[in-house]
Amino acid sequence: GTGEPVLPAAAWWQAERPRLLELAGERTPRYVYHLPTVRAQARRLKALNAVDRVHYAVKANTHPAILRALAEEGFAFECVSPGELAAVSAVVPESAPLLFTPNFASRRDFAAALATRATITIDALHPVEHWGEMFAGRDIVLRVDLGRGLGHHDKVKTGGTGSKFGVPIEHVDRFLRLADAAGARVIGLHAHLGSGILDAGHWGEVYSQLAALAERIGTISVLNIGGGLGVPSHPGEAPLDMAALDRVITSVRQAYPQFQLWMEPGRFLVADAGVLLAKVTQDKEKGANVRYLGLDTGMNSLIRPALYDAWHEIANLTRFGEPATTMYQVVGPICESGDILGSDRRLPESREDDVILIAQAGAYGAAMASRYNLRDEADEVILP
Ligand code: LLP
Repeated sequence: GTGEPVLPAAAWWQAERPRLLELAGERTPRYVYHLPTVRAQARRLKALNAVDRVHYAVKANTHPAILRALAEEGFAFECVSPGELAAVSAVVPESAPLLFTPNFASRRDFAAALATRATITIDALHPVEHWGEMFAGRDIVLRVDLGRGLGHHDKVKTGGTGSKFGVPIEHVDRFLRLADAAGARVIGLHAHLGSGILDAGHWGEVYSQLAALAERIGTISVLNIGGGLGVPSHPGEAPLDMAALDRVITSVRQAYPQFQLWMEPGRFLVADAGVLLAKVTQDKEKGANVRYLGLDTGMNSLIRPALYDAWHEIANLTRFGEPATTMYQVVGPICESGDILGSDRRLPESREDDVILIAQAGAYGAAMASRYNLRDEADEVILP
């Protein structure tokens, strides 16, 4: 192997190695997405009995084939911009519900979203205070900040005064008065604490807190307990316990059965379904023991290691199974010291043009890619 403990989700790309080598032979950098893995994850979410509606948070990956596959699985879609609403509307059937959950969106963004069938979530006083007439006669969802955030990195926690998201609890009554004055009906409450959460109990707490608030408000029929469902991303990390999640939300729902329960996961559906393929460009030695392995793409295609110190498994596909003899700093061609894909990775001694696979890149990979340094963007291939 690569010398790193192998994560269970790696199974598909090991089995597809010949096909992946062929695809990399045609072109790199290249993202490859395995639809059976997306569908398998979709079914694990559909098995959650207490959930009435699962929205796919399309910001994680907007590839049309993925949107189509999830529409076929009966998913709804959560969008955060007019661009995402347009991308989704272009490929999913009219019957798929849409949810618009923006942050600091402009009046124009809201106008665009109100022209679609999306349910609108508002996460500040400003829209109902200054643009109230836009929401007259509409059902809206209020995003609240429950005062705490969670997630795999500080940059992905979305609660508390250090975070820009949501209406703080002490402003909820003001929001309700402003919405009422505007003629809008607040039919739902929403909270999303962050991304990459592996503690199943947290969604039960969110539901209970929202339910207690909703009972006080009286007009609420829907509670959206957010996304953030993590996948193990580091060797040895335990996966989210889906049976425990099912038990937790079933029990809180029994305590407050009058509300519909919505979720909006992104990463969980697509992270393990995607890999990034690149080729070795150069090998450089520095000092006694430091070896840099250069690839033909870096933070321009996958910014997560640079931005969050995220750990992605890296394998030399060309030499898969050979002894992992060499410790590398795996880097890209971008003019930034932070342009690193993996540090201290033990791999087989690697050569120019070897195909390198970066795993678990299906979520927030291509979606966050840039054209920095005017490098070509990785293209995207679907394995159906
Ligand atoms: N709902 C809301 C309101 C969100 O802000 C997000 C993600 C989601 C749902 C979906 O979260 P997920 O289930 O995918 O964790 N770029 C970071 C993650 C940022 C997430 C942004 N919001 C990363 O690569 O780890």
